[in-house]
Amino acid sequence: MTERIEDIAQAMVQPGQGILAADESTGTIKKRFDSIETENTEDNRQAYREMLFRSQEAMNNCISGVIMFEETLYQKAADGTPFVDLIKAAGAVPGIKVDMGAHPLPSAPGETVTEGLDGLRNRLAKYYEAGARFAKWRAVISIDAVRPTYGGIKANAHALARYAALCQEAGIVPIVEPEVQMDADPADHTIERCHEVTSAVLQTVFTELHDQNVKLEGMILKPNMVVPGSKCSTQNSPEEVAHHTVAVLKRAVPAAVPGIAFLSGGQSVLEATTNLNAMNAAYDTPWALTYSYGRALQASALQAWKGNADNIEAGSSAFTQRAKMNSLAAKGEWNEGLEAG
Ligand code: 13P
Repeated sequence: MTERIEDIAQAMVQPGQGILAADESTGTIKKRFDSIETENTEDNRQAYREMLFRSQEAMNNCISGVIMFEETLYQKAADGTPFVDLIKAAGAVPGIKVDMGAHPLPSAPGETVTEGLDGLRNRLAKYYEAGARFAKWRAVISIDAVRPTYGGIKANAHALARYAALCQEAGIVPIVEPEVQMDADPADHTIERCHEVTSAVLQTVFTELHDQNVKLEGMILKPNMVVPGSKCSTQNSPEEVAHHTVAVLKRAVPAAVPGIAFLSGGQSVLEATTNLNAMNAAYDTPWALTYSYGRALQASALQAWKGNADNIEAGSSAFTQRAKMNSLAAKGEWNEGLEAG
């Protein structure tokens, strides 16, 4: 029986569930491991991810999909079970990061465009064969006095749409991720400036998706929340973040999109949960609003694990706690008092 991408997308944003972004490249996971003085070996990467994927309560109840790096898609648990099977057994959808990173855009100093379209059709067929049913491509937009330019936004939006169309052809749900960064230097922009830029980016992305005939019912949007730069002297309340984010999304994202799964982007663990909750508690939206967090789901688990096999249980419960808190936030049912538990 052929699976429909519309059904996969719906499953990825089912109520109270969200996506675990565990797709750190080998270079990025090194930075995370450095912070806990753990060597970046294949064995350690495998042990760490097995700890997450075997966190049964979190995986069964709070995680609807897992984004993996290519190495992880083909890795196995210590007992020989493929990670893909572990994830599927927990009722979650296996996914794969397919972009090849952001590279300098020659005509636009300080801007990048994400590469990876060449040969993507063949890679997607291979990933489908290995069990992936969704993919992710991240475009990176940063803010300063003159950036982003329209040309920069357009190049990234075009690539996102080309990628999304190829995914759907392969039976794979594209996660379309245009990230307006909160902490790229100088990071001193206001929430109003993030509002303006995120708005322009999303409008352009949906125009390109339309031009490439991408089926909106079979995709997930992964945007940034509308927040001030991390070094802005005015930091806004969760209610203000919710207000700006929902306003921008309502104007730019058609109701046919089943769900929006935010990135955490450098927000603290608590901010990411509080802001998501503020949106779901106060607004009715045509799409599900949930999480696709990397750092905000993993930071406490990494700290508890510290690269030590004796700490697997502690790491797993730290991950489970974050997953549960974010699951409540995705329903607007979280409050700070629940954190203690
Ligand atoms: P963060 O939540 O750590 O921003 O990571 C999400 C992600 O997948 C970035 O591409």
